[in-house]
Amino acid sequence: NRVKLDYSKVLPFVGEKEISARREKASQALKGLENGTCKGSEFLGWLDLPARITSEELDRIEACAARLRAETDVVVIVGIGGSYLGAKAVIESMAGSFDAFSGTKVVFAGHNVSEDYLYELQEFLKDKKFGICVISKSGTTTEPAVAFRLLKEQLIGQEGVQVSRQRIVAITDERKGALRALADKEGYQTFVIPDNVGGRYSVLTPVGLLPVAIAGHDIRALVKGAADMRTYGKENGAELSATYAAVRNALYEKGYTIEITVNFNPKLHYVAEWWKQLYGESEGKEHKGIFPASVDFTTDLHSMGQYIQEGRRDLFETVLSVEKTKHQLLVPCDAHDLDKLNYLAGKRIDEVNKMAELGTQLAHVDGGVPNIRVVIPELTEYYLGQLFYFYELACGISGGILGVNTFDQPGVEAYKNNMFMLLGKPGYGK
Ligand code: PA5
Repeated sequence: NRVKLDYSKVLPFVGEKEISARREKASQALKGLENGTCKGSEFLGWLDLPARITSEELDRIEACAARLRAETDVVVIVGIGGSYLGAKAVIESMAGSFDAFSGTKVVFAGHNVSEDYLYELQEFLKDKKFGICVISKSGTTTEPAVAFRLLKEQLIGQEGVQVSRQRIVAITDERKGALRALADKEGYQTFVIPDNVGGRYSVLTPVGLLPVAIAGHDIRALVKGAADMRTYGKENGAELSATYAAVRNALYEKGYTIEITVNFNPKLHYVAEWWKQLYGESEGKEHKGIFPASVDFTTDLHSMGQYIQEGRRDLFETVLSVEKTKHQLLVPCDAHDLDKLNYLAGKRIDEVNKMAELGTQLAHVDGGVPNIRVVIPELTEYYLGQLFYFYELACGISGGILGVNTFDQPGVEAYKNNMFMLLGKPGYGK
């Protein structure tokens, strides 16, 4: 079984002929990735990453996760962007919705510089045995560096220097960066982010795998899903990813410049956040690119639904549709039926959700919004692995069709330079 793609509800808006034209560009772009002639080819390490990860590497990650789980009540994962969203996406998808209230194994920091957030996190950690997993490829990103400095100081205060060294794990470059220098000096356990894998493509490196393992989820299934998707793609010209890339670019050429990734399961909220980073940071260049947005349905049908139905007609939707739920629940029958819901009695809650999904699709297509469906058989680590690889490859192909360097992010420097100047960082004169 596999993640599938259904673009039949795009065809009223762009014909097969227009899509075929983009398919040719997609196969060119795929060739550029496979033979390493595309722009940014020094960052193609993700392409064969799932098959390259060895069982020994996974053993080492799992052993570190098991040790941290045994030695701590909670581990703070410190990172931002690609050093945050992949792990967050898997953990939110796999964890129980209310795990946070019954004692969670991981919390996140370093993805903002909110004083209140960090203060409240420190209060939360005050009476806990905690560990820190600090992640930064460059090792110099301000947000995680600030959070790490605070948390490290707190940990040393609570546990002393020796214990805190064992409770800190760093994931960073093999040689470069401030975090590498610090980790080597303090003797922290470290994991390496390969040079040829960019941040937003790093979910299947220790960046994603260690936090996911600490949270207690199955990293082998995640990697296997991605590896199977790679093998499947190799056998059929990456059909799924190439088709998605071709369809979205055909829509873009017709003026559909905003893609909304939709879920009907709140567990997928952060998968959409991960997808937004992957596509936004990869394609938004040279004043080009589809703007990636996301909504959580049915929640947002009561807010953004109005705009999607009747606002500007420059958007299309890609629905993440999960076929099978983890649990089953029926709508109860009520003898009095005062709420007039007995017509639903005995039906699965998921049937109500699926009919909301279908009803929304029909309404939005009628309203002029093209609709793509990405069908996920079940929300498991294995299918998430497939989904990640499907999207990563499609992004590489899509960036190639667009003609940008998918793998750099020169635009993120502008805010940093201003912030450093305003804060008086040496070398950034006012
Ligand atoms: O995709 C990217 O390269 C970025 O989003 C980075 O992941 C993000 O800026 C964090 O960088 P770093 O891991 O160097 O701290």
